[in-house]
Order: sequence, then C-alpha cells, then structure tokens
Amino acid sequence: MKILITGGAGYIGTHTCVELLNGGYEIVVVDNYSNSKPESLDRVREITNKDFPVYAVDILDRKALTSVFTENEIDAVIHFAGLKAVGESVSFPLRYYYNNVTGTLILCDVMREFAVSKIVFSSSATVYGMQECVPFHEDLPLQATNPYGRTKLMIEEILHDIYQSNHNWSIALLRYFNPIGAHHSGLIGEDPNGIPNNLVPYISQVAVGKRDKLHVFGNDYPTHDGTGVRDYIHVSDLAAGHVKALEKVLQTEGIEAYNLGTSIGYSVMEVIQAFEENSGRAIPYEIKNRRLGDIAVSFADSQKAEKELGWTAKKGLDDMCRDAWRWQEKNPNGYEEKEQLLNKN
Ligand code: NAD
Ligand code: WQD
Repeated sequence: MKILITGGAGYIGTHTCVELLNGGYEIVVVDNYSNSKPESLDRVREITNKDFPVYAVDILDRKALTSVFTENEIDAVIHFAGLKAVGESVSFPLRYYYNNVTGTLILCDVMREFAVSKIVFSSSATVYGMQECVPFHEDLPLQATNPYGRTKLMIEEILHDIYQSNHNWSIALLRYFNPIGAHHSGLIGEDPNGIPNNLVPYISQVAVGKRDKLHVFGNDYPTHDGTGVRDYIHVSDLAAGHVKALEKVLQTEGIEAYNLGTSIGYSVMEVIQAFEENSGRAIPYEIKNRRLGDIAVSFADSQKAEKELGWTAKKGLDDMCRDAWRWQEKNPNGYEEKEQLLNKN
C-alpha cells in the first residue's frame, strides 16, 4: 500500500511517516521545504531504518505533482502541506488562500485524474472558532476567526462537495487540538522558524536558554487559575490517529470529521509547571494582556474517533513535556546545526 504524504517533512508529517513506516506502509513524500528541512526526513530514515522516495515539489506545481503520481502508484493521500501561522495569515491572507486552498484544489484534481479517491486531511480545532461551551463535538456549527482558519473551513467544504459529486471518494477530516511533544528518540520534533507562536515551543526555548522568559497571555480568563485552557495532544498519538484514519478511508467511502484530542484541558500555568518538573529547568514568566483572538477554554470530545477509528490518545502531559524537552535539549537549534555543518564542509 503506497501512501503519498504532502508536507511530510514538517512537524506532524515526520511523526506520521514514522508511524506509517513502522506499520508496514510504503510512503512517498512531497514537500517544498517552505517550513521544514530535508534533514527531518533523514531522521525519519534513522528512526525507522527504512528508505522512501522524497520529492522537493510544491503542490501548487501541477506538472511536478502529476509526475509524482505517474512515477508512483499511489493508493491514498495524507495531506499535511499548508501554511499554519494564524498571525501571518492575517497579514498575508492571499498567500494563505493560495497555498492552502489552491494547493488542495490542485492536489484533489490530480488525484481525480489518477483515480485516487482516498484522502486524510489535516484540519484543525480552529474550525470551531469561538464556542460557548466545551467540549467541542464534531457536529457543532463551524466558524473561523482568521484567514488561516477560513482556509481549513473552506477546504472541509470543498472536500464535502467533491464527495457529493462522486461517492467513490473516502475522506477523513482530522481536527487536531494542540499537538505538542516529540518522538521519544529526540530525533524529530517541532522546529519553528523565528520566534515561536505556540506555547510549548516558546517554553522549550526559555528552558534551553534561547529566550529570557515566557509571556503568559492573560490571567483573567474564567478558568480555575485565570489562564487559557487547551487540549494538548502528544504528536505521536496524533500520528497514530492518522494511521487509524487511513485504515478507515481505505476500507470505506464517505466523508467524516474526527476530533483528535485527549478530551482533557490544561491551563498555561499547569503546562509551565509540568514542563519545569519534567525538564528540571525553571521557566520564568510574566503575565501580559490577553492575545487577540484567543478563547478561554478549548478541549475535544474525542468519542467519535474512539468509536469509529478505534483511536484514543495514550500519552499524558508529563510524557509530552518530557519528550518536548528531550528534543529541545538534543537539538537546541532544531535541524539547523547539522545543515550548517554540512554547508561548511
Ligand atoms: P509544518 O509547517 O511543520 O508542516 C507543513 C509542511 O508542509 C512543511 O514541511 C512545509 O514545508 C510543507 N508545505 C507547505 N506548503 C507546501 C506546498 N505548497 N507544497 C509542498 N509542501 C508544502 O506544520 P505541522 O504542524 O506539521 O502541520 C501540518 C498540518 O496540520 C498543516 O496543514 C497545519 O495547518 C495542520 N495543523 C497543525 C496544527 C499544529 O498546531 N501544528 C494544528 C492543527 C492543524
Ligand atoms: C495555547 C495557550 C495562549 C503562547 C494555535 C492556533 C490553532 C492551532 C494550534 C493550527 C493559549 C497561551 C501561548 C505564549 C501564552 N494551529 N500562550 N504565551 O492558540 O490554542 O492554537 O495552535 O491549526 O489554530 O490558533 O495554541 O500554543 O498558541 O496557545 O500564554 O507565548 O497558551 O494564550 O491560552 P492555540 P498556542
């Protein structure tokens, strides 16, 4: 079974490649390295002791993408390729709509041309927008509050239309909550460009001494300690969820959305404490104003994924912090160091 992984060199993509290779799948990776480095895929080879073809291809390049389908008999696609920074999407909406929405249109059209009709798509809990109550269930009305979120919403709708037009398609829309952590080997993990936007990458950089202190965005939310509550999920659990979703789309036709979360919410202060305990490092912090667009509480109702995919998250917050720290400590500058060494030689 040969699976095309778009955006496979990225954070969630690399972890999913590991799970797929360990599960006996053949993979083909496509990535334009706009937010990743080829080194990440060498690390996947190192972890799994398996090789696979990689194409430095932009999914917007229809001709190059078509060649990938011509050269490989693809059975299904896991589609990670996309831009994901919320703030950047507000400043550069066209870039986001073009890359994420047009990229997906081109991918789906090439799939149609080659009669490949099974796809697992990286959606996001961001499609729930501002909700009144938790947990978030898949049937809630959807809304987006920024261009990034709207690209996910639009792609979900496009995929629904594609299924309506041809019931041979089989589509899983995976709505991730807050992926954190890293593979337990410490060889692959999240490697953000510049100043991290997300909580755990920022905390990790404070712990390793790259940044002075964390800014806690608001302590006046209606939560038990006033800081924002989120459903953090270990990236390896998330990757395992993709294998389960893939099994499902390979066996059936239809389109279904699944929340991938732990169904447990932790506050920013609880994450700081867990990270300190699991890294042995102090995380200095300062309370700042709320970040524009943030909600107080978000966590998943993950029962549908449990019932229909046979998937639940297994790892807890301590595992997530321990593994995030192992990755950060072993790779203080992400994948850069080895790249730079290679360039010097
Ligand atoms: P990432 O940036 O690490 O990985 C995305 C990969 O896609 C990168 O390697 C990038 O180079 C590649 N890419 C981007 N545009 C491309 C294009 N046009 N052609 C080919 N490759 C392209 O991000 P991630 O955290 O691994 O996220 C993967 C997917 O999951 C994204 O679609 C993202 O929106 C979604 N998602 C992420 C999170 C999160 O918190 N990390 C949460 C919900 C959803
Ligand atoms: C978590 C909590 C912050 C940074 C984002 C995207 C979402 C999805 C996942 C892709 C919040 C607080 C954060 C910091 C802080 N991505 N925080 N100081 O906002 O839940 O979700 O990533 O689909 O679309 O919006 O995650 O990690 O940014 O924030 O206090 O430096 O940490 O206010 O309460 P978020 P996050």
